[in-house]
Amino acid sequence: MAQLLEWSDKFSVGCELIDKQHKNLCNLINKLYDAFVQAKANNVINDILQEMADYTVYHFRTEEELFEKYDYYDKENHKNEHNHFVEKVEEFMEKLKKGEVSVSYEVMTFLKDWLTNHILKSDMMYKDFICK
Ligand code: FEO
Repeated sequence: MAQLLEWSDKFSVGCELIDKQHKNLCNLINKLYDAFVQAKANNVINDILQEMADYTVYHFRTEEELFEKYDYYDKENHKNEHNHFVEKVEEFMEKLKKGEVSVSYEVMTFLKDWLTNHILKSDMMYKDFICK
């Protein structure tokens, strides 16, 4: 299977549940990329993107519940980052459904870069607070 993003230990936040969810997100990006390079039908690619968007919302909810549980000091900034990303993806999905845009290499690179930067910068900040 073609891969756009390879999981490595540098992405580990030291919490089994979150690492597992991040790995699932990584797998979904690769599933999307693989469908793209194999030139699968648009509806197949769009369905994978929807699956990824839904799983991302689920993952963000998991992190945000842990922020509340441990009263994480930077929870508001972190939630804003999540919300901003979800809004961007929702806007894109709306345009996709109307046929105004399509999934491109640039879109997948954006998703990959956003996820890796977010894990390495923002998620790592909570490592010692919610991953006990
Ligand atoms: Fe793992 Fe803040 O997303």
